Amino acid sequence: MTAPDHLIRIAGGDVCFPCAPDDTMLRAAQRAGLGFPYECNVGSCGNCKFELVKGEVQMAWEQAPGWTDKDRARNRYLGCQSRALGDCTVKLLTNPRYAPLHIPQRMSAVLTGRRRITHDISEFSFSLEQPQAFEPGQYALVYLPGVMGGRAYSMSNIVGDGLGWEFQVRRTPQGQGSQVLFDSLKIGERIEIDGPYGMAWLRRDAPRDILCLAGGSGLAPMISIARGAMAEPVLAQRKLHFLYGGRMPADVCGEDMLRALPGWGDRLTYQAAISAAPLEGEPAWPGTVGYLHDVAQQRFGAGLAQMEIYFAGPPVMAQALQRMLLAEKVPFAQVHFDQFY
Ligand SMILES: Cc1cc2nc3c(=O)[nH]c(=O)nc-3n(C[C@H](O)[C@H](O)[C@H](O)COP(=O)(O)OP(=O)(O)OC[C@H]3O[C@@H](n4cnc5c(N)ncnc54)[C@H](O)[C@@H]3O)c2cc1C
Ligand code: FES
Repeated sequence: MTAPDHLIRIAGGDVCFPCAPDDTMLRAAQRAGLGFPYECNVGSCGNCKFELVKGEVQMAWEQAPGWTDKDRARNRYLGCQSRALGDCTVKLLTNPRYAPLHIPQRMSAVLTGRRRITHDISEFSFSLEQPQAFEPGQYALVYLPGVMGGRAYSMSNIVGDGLGWEFQVRRTPQGQGSQVLFDSLKIGERIEIDGPYGMAWLRRDAPRDILCLAGGSGLAPMISIARGAMAEPVLAQRKLHFLYGGRMPADVCGEDMLRALPGWGDRLTYQAAISAAPLEGEPAWPGTVGYLHDVAQQRFGAGLAQMEIYFAGPPVMAQALQRMLLAEKVPFAQVHFDQFY
């Protein structure tokens, strides 16, 4: 017999939602269709804070970087890490912008394939037990054996029949999750996946050309956006420019995946840049050298403000891009990203 759900009441109104004892406050609210604000889902960004007014909660990850001493002193918790220990009342400002497009579910999935993309990025294909919809650009939490907490990985495919979910993961040195994915998880092995989550999904109604900027591990969501845009009849008149940034020539990837799409060469273009010229003895690089934000600014300049812009990659790249887009006066509503941590 499973334990009954707890009831979470949002102070100052009639809104309540059920929270299973093994779920988190954020994800339970999302499963109830509520716009509980969040971004990373893994305890880092701090965007999912709420104040506990009544009841008791427990943080699944006490050392989460997004949970500060000030939060502890003020009875504030991270929604993505806290479990209710009974019925609770919370102070929280919901926002319809964060309401799920597809109700996220925790599902059983089997690893069906692993494919090398570069020296440190591989693609992992999973088959779900039941179909689940997602939007291009969204991510899921992947629960791996022996790893504390879920890892956020963006889907690189588009939804299709909803059963096959693909991820492109960069191996993190000493990273627990990526080590299990690359080295020990076997084809046919079963894990759990919870999703979809994320706000950087493809806007089908945006009347603008699209710019996708991907750095390193940010490949997957941008490939998914490109695949989604090229398959979408409503966007048939839109061009999509894809810029990929790596540190060295061996990091560069993604072009083959875009070449396979229907709009290639006509309304779909690709440009790669490396951030530092190769040293003597390293493979030559005939292409662009520079940081992705500089490359995008030099190529599109004031035209950026007329584009719908999606980006993903390491935090330093994301911050440099935000500064550049602000300087180019790109309206905030045209920029979409879920910061990686
Ligand atoms: C929205 C989003 C999308 C992402 N998409 C991709 C992608 O498509 N491809 C890709 O390669 N990477 C992606 N990442 C990064 C990825 O989630 C991992 O951070 C990265 O792979 C390193 O994980 P690791 O387990 O190998 O490293 P580790 O250093 O072992 O783990 C780092 C990550 O795990 C979390 N964590 C660590 N300990 C705990 C704990 N005890 N409980 C709960 N959480 C813990 C941290 O917050 C951090 O996110 C994404 C991140 C975010 C936030
Ligand atoms: S810390 Fe909870 S969503 Fe980022």
